[in-house]
Amino acid sequence: MARLCIVKGRVLDPANGIDERLNVYIDDGIIRELSEAAPGGEWEVLDASGCWVMPGLIDMHVHLRQPGQEGKETIRTGTRAAAAGGITSVVPMANTSPVIDDATGVEYLLRIARAEGLVRVWPIGTVTRELAGRELSDIGEIVAAGAVAVSDDGRGIMDGCVMRRALQYCKQFNLPILIHAEDHNLSAEGVMHEGAFSTIMGLPGQPSESESTMVARDCLLAEAVGGRVHVCHVSAKETCDIIRFFKSRGVAVTGEATPHHFSLTDEAVDGYNTHAKVSPPLRTEEDRAAVCAALADGTLDVIASDHAPHMAIEKELEFDQAPFGMVGLETMWALVLDRLVHGGLLSPLEAVRKCTENPARILGIARGTLSPGAEADVAICDPEWEWRVEPEKFQTKGRNTPFAGWKLRGKVRDALVSGRFVLREGEVVDATPLP
Ligand code: DOR
Ligand code: ZN
Repeated sequence: MARLCIVKGRVLDPANGIDERLNVYIDDGIIRELSEAAPGGEWEVLDASGCWVMPGLIDMHVHLRQPGQEGKETIRTGTRAAAAGGITSVVPMANTSPVIDDATGVEYLLRIARAEGLVRVWPIGTVTRELAGRELSDIGEIVAAGAVAVSDDGRGIMDGCVMRRALQYCKQFNLPILIHAEDHNLSAEGVMHEGAFSTIMGLPGQPSESESTMVARDCLLAEAVGGRVHVCHVSAKETCDIIRFFKSRGVAVTGEATPHHFSLTDEAVDGYNTHAKVSPPLRTEEDRAAVCAALADGTLDVIASDHAPHMAIEKELEFDQAPFGMVGLETMWALVLDRLVHGGLLSPLEAVRKCTENPARILGIARGTLSPGAEADVAICDPEWEWRVEPEKFQTKGRNTPFAGWKLRGKVRDALVSGRFVLREGEVVDATPLP
């Protein structure tokens, strides 16, 4: 394998506190050295002038739809979309059909990912069998087969006793539970945030409490049991306050924000725009600002896309009939740069940390850093690259994005997985199968 030296870039490696101009030496798929020394003739040189050289991004919340809904996405198209967005590791949620609730499902995913994935795929399993919220899945088997977490994402776990047992069980494996916090009695038939705007729209709403009350419950249970919870896609101000409070008590809780929740409000559903229909829903400007503040003060540790592709014909249904979700792999990092970094809310190093070091630490995966000896998963972004979101050019099969037509500043130019290009000059390189 070629020996590559990435020169003249601004290296951002939050795990090692590095933010300086250095050359990155990659040999045999491994980071060898970060140094100021100029490469000799035996190194292929990649010029990263004006760019940031970062660990490959990790998106710990995506839906790749395989098995069962390959019309919406496959491991192949979903990992191509990841590569296009500079994401070198993805964590697909287990709400496929069948759901991933045993070792066979995890093994299937790993097999397909090895054969067809452009980037690394880290499987997870469900917390409960069939996502039904009643009996626990074969969590021990799921972990032994290689899952890095469990989640019933897509549905809230309504039974507190089940959640407590899951936390007790997962504690043995030091495994985090990724929480989709939703009280379905409170969210009921709601299709958007419940507030002034849902009244104007004449649509049934989901109150913020359908999320916040469940987060409070799960934090209290985690505290009692000594377990670990990671709150997915935080949408409400009160949820931020609750996570902040429990962190101050030393509870092992982490939080995640999506680009749509830090960029948009419920007014995006104006015109009954189904591309803005998502679970949990986009909320008010006060909630959006609270999510941004919680990212800035460290209450929320992770940014993840919740990439949720759906068929065009489904999103063309009436608002209340259309499915929840939007694609995000190809716009996530650009929105982080455009909204949060250029917006002055996060430093470059903190932004990179939320998409690399923190998800890697939460999941216990050996990724998210440029330390010598680490796998050479690397992303090189041009923070000034101005581009327009054109869904028809996406690698994902999904076209369901509320960001179509947006002009964004910042984009990943090149990405490497174990030292091999999967994105070069903004074009996806088909490098399958990965080493
Ligand atoms: O909007 C969403 N879509 N939220 C979820 O929790 C699930 C996801 C999906 O699977 O489509
Ligand atoms: Zn979810």
